[in-house]
Amino acid sequence: MTQQPDGRLVAGAAEGEERELETALRPKNLDDFVGQQRVRRQLSLVLEAARLRGRTADHVLMSGPPGLGKTTLAMIIAGEMNAPLRISSGPAIQHAGDLAAILSSLTEGEVLFLDEIHRMSRPAEEMLYMAMEDFRVDIVVGKGAGATSIPLEIPPFTLVGATTRAGLLPGPLRDRFGFTGHLEFYSTEELELVLRRSALLLDMKVNSAGFTQIASRSRGTPRIANRLLRRVRDWALVGGLEQVDSRAASAALEMYEVDEKGLDRLDRSVLEALCRKFAGGPVGLSTLAIAVGEETETVETVAEPFLVREGLLGRTPRGRIAMPAAWEHLGLVPPPDSPGAAFWMVPTPSDAGADSNRPDSADEADTLFDP
Ligand SMILES: Nc1ncnc2c1ncn2[C@@H]1O[C@H](COP(=O)(O)OP(=O)(O)OP(=O)(O)O)[C@@H](O)[C@H]1O
Ligand SMILES: [Mg+2]
Repeated sequence: MTQQPDGRLVAGAAEGEERELETALRPKNLDDFVGQQRVRRQLSLVLEAARLRGRTADHVLMSGPPGLGKTTLAMIIAGEMNAPLRISSGPAIQHAGDLAAILSSLTEGEVLFLDEIHRMSRPAEEMLYMAMEDFRVDIVVGKGAGATSIPLEIPPFTLVGATTRAGLLPGPLRDRFGFTGHLEFYSTEELELVLRRSALLLDMKVNSAGFTQIASRSRGTPRIANRLLRRVRDWALVGGLEQVDSRAASAALEMYEVDEKGLDRLDRSVLEALCRKFAGGPVGLSTLAIAVGEETETVETVAEPFLVREGLLGRTPRGRIAMPAAWEHLGLVPPPDSPGAAFWMVPTPSDAGADSNRPDSADEADTLFDP
């Protein structure tokens, strides 16, 4: 995965010291956790049942895009079960021995949180299967013909795995979780609640319209909402503003170049190029990237997912196109033959071939299509 360009305010992922700031804003129990009704209800059932049976809870997998609350929920699970929490991550477990060391030192009922669980090494993964199912691991000692395996009992524990890429998890691992929570993007109303809570903790005064203004620019992501709130706080502090209203919030965020849909400069320059330079496309990804002076990968992995999600940009077998909402968002009038309008029509084979003299449409034809 590419690094987010430094300082990108609307990145879903957290950067270095932000993780520390986040700790202060993390809800500590399920009641304080905003939104995700379905996951919250299911999870609370799993935990309550475990408590009633006097057993450790089933293993739980949290999946979803960055910043939606996976780590927060893992901590809440430990809190609700009144159990100690051990934290590690896939990339930190490169050898089966690393995992064996963690597992063998767990205490009964402990919650083991493995972040980015899809990045664990294969041998460690196989050890984990057995540990999850039988609370036992086989430690292999020695090499070659003289190698022996020593069985090791481990106390019952609850594994909480988190992944942004559930599709990368091997089936056998996925199957061993008793419950999988799929986190979804938050509505603006839910983000307003997240912001209200954070503002209280940060001792900030914001009125309702101010919250709405920040929430609607936060791309459905609590992490981004909290980050924008901190920027608005700086702005208000420097400007000597007592209470943040809608105008102040939007002025502050305009200054940071986050527009009313939550697009930043990179997102907008991709859309601008698509509409102004290529008449709405279709245009190949690499051409588009050159036009905005970015790496192909940056455009594809950093800007595009949100633009596609918002229905602003379309990926077609012939290249990227501006959707009607993109023209509208930029305040432009689409040309009458704008490809976005025709996007819903199934192209005939001759249509698809007609464009093959575009520089990079042919070689991208397979990879561009997003089923
Ligand atoms: N439902 C929620 N209610 C209130 N705050 C939330 C909620 N979900 C997330 N947050 C806040 O958003 C921030 C990011 O959440 P968290 O670290 O749990 O995300 P994540 O899914 O683990 O992200 P990553 O994939 O990057 O690890 C935290 O500071 C947390 O306080
Ligand atoms: Mg996390």
